Amino acid sequence: MRLFVALELPEEVKDRLVSLTGGLPGVRWVRPENYHLTLRFIGEVPGYMADELDLALGNIRAKPFELTLSGLGTFEKAGRVQSLHVVAERTPGLAHLQTKIETALQRAGLPAERKRFAPHVTLARTDGAAVSRLVGFVQTHNLFRTDPLMVERFVLFSSRLGKEQAVYTPEVEYALAA
Ligand code: 2AM
Repeated sequence: MRLFVALELPEEVKDRLVSLTGGLPGVRWVRPENYHLTLRFIGEVPGYMADELDLALGNIRAKPFELTLSGLGTFEKAGRVQSLHVVAERTPGLAHLQTKIETALQRAGLPAERKRFAPHVTLARTDGAAVSRLVGFVQTHNLFRTDPLMVERFVLFSSRLGKEQAVYTPEVEYALAA
């Protein structure tokens, strides 16, 4: 199974993200049902390992916290802009949960994540778009901001890579409790 741990977003936030999209030839917009904030990409693991990881995630104790999306950004690789995203504020509550998840998954046998946690919600894959248009898009929408939203659970998703877009399925939900 191909797995990742993420936060789901409320419908009203998804609606606001959708309203940002469009008007950028050459990009592939993420479908609204696929919007999420990845806390930890796990990748392909055998079934027995998925069970171990589920157990580890189920033992995490963390409090609900507020999440705010604010501003836009891009990720680049080898000088090419690969994706366009909305930035999530790296608040103590979010960082705390992400650290707990990382620790739990490593204890359960996953190798450490080498990339620094940069919380975001991907809006589009941008391989084909002109950089000047992307820069303009980020500038136009950079004041985008949501009200703080309460995060009360995190989710283990499976991902099936499709021809057009991946299909993400919530497999297990883990509640945060005060
Ligand atoms: P992205 O949105 O920034 O591309 C499911 O694939 C989720 O895991 C995506 O949100 C993706 O982040 C994230 N992810 C992190 N590392 C990944 C990797 N090496 N391959 C695929 N997805 C990855």
